[in-house]
Amino acid sequence: MDAARREVDPAAFARRPRGMWRYFELLPVRDEANVVTLGEGGTPLLRAPRLERAHDARAILIKDEGVNPTGTFKARGMSAAVSRAKELGLTRLTVPTAGNAGGALALYCARAGMEAHVFMPADAPEANKMEAAIAGANLVIVNGLISDAGRLSRERAAEIGLFDVSTLREPYRVEGKKTMGYEIAEDLGWRLPEAIVYPTGGGTGIVGMWKAFDEMERLGWIGPERPMMIIVQAEGCAPLVRAFENGARHAEPWEGASTIASGIRVPSAVADYLILDAARESNGTALTVTDAEILAAMRELAETEGVWAAPEAAATLAGYRKLRASGFLAPETETLLLCTGSGQKYMEVVAPL
Ligand SMILES: Cc1ncc(COP(=O)(O)O)c(C=O)c1O
Repeated sequence: MDAARREVDPAAFARRPRGMWRYFELLPVRDEANVVTLGEGGTPLLRAPRLERAHDARAILIKDEGVNPTGTFKARGMSAAVSRAKELGLTRLTVPTAGNAGGALALYCARAGMEAHVFMPADAPEANKMEAAIAGANLVIVNGLISDAGRLSRERAAEIGLFDVSTLREPYRVEGKKTMGYEIAEDLGWRLPEAIVYPTGGGTGIVGMWKAFDEMERLGWIGPERPMMIIVQAEGCAPLVRAFENGARHAEPWEGASTIASGIRVPSAVADYLILDAARESNGTALTVTDAEILAAMRELAETEGVWAAPEAAATLAGYRKLRASGFLAPETETLLLCTGSGQKYMEVVAPL
């Protein structure tokens, strides 16, 4: 942080190309030659005037992560993790995944000339299996959930010596994800919105943004104010919402997890306490939405603002609607919906619409 304070000031970023590597000094790679990039980050922060009118709201913002390479924000984390792995001389990486992280690892490893092992549930979106396969990854289809995939990935890693890039079990994916926090602040003129609604699975995004806010305050770029950090989960898999409501700092694993929003079908999160701390310290909250509400929100986002969002991303709008109805969010609360991915990867989900 001291080096970053000396070497960069926020105005310097504006002179660099858009994308997450414009924050190079704040990322874990030492030598720029090791950066493995497909052009991730620098995603649009869209004002949503038609949604605002429909919801009688002062300000709704959409951060559209669907325009990333690989179609989701997972690209940021994998760009950082694969770059740092390259720098450390690692060549064989493994990941258990709900789908998008595995596809992203496969493509970033291909870009770096590295070997990727991807453990993915059998009912993950077809697009995720295809992107892993087409990139030449060792794709293992698992009859079970991401937690089962995690067990198999760890076993294989021990057997043949793979480096495990599971969510928050290595320190670098979160560094990539934190750049969303930097971008939001930069795009708003070095301030933050009043609330951020985040579709939470393993929680790298929320933990990453929370870290970015802390870093920016230490650098003197923003003040101590924080957005309310709002956790949205699916009714069929809501371990963090249950823990939030029970006042617990750790979440019990969710039994029988099921939702069309496969990226947030995560029965237990290793960083549960960090996610819950961020929501509590920011006076945020946690809530569930149903699959039907997610589908309706997918259509609403596309019809009103032209954003074809992934079901996880649409869950943020479904959550926003409920928080307005309950009065938790006021019409004037400037709220950012963190739209984590593109609906184009979810043909199975949208086909019945
Ligand atoms: C599109 C999408 N949104 C949200 C998530 C949840 O992300 P996190 O693990 O950071 O909570 C995922 C994870 O797979 C995802 O693919």
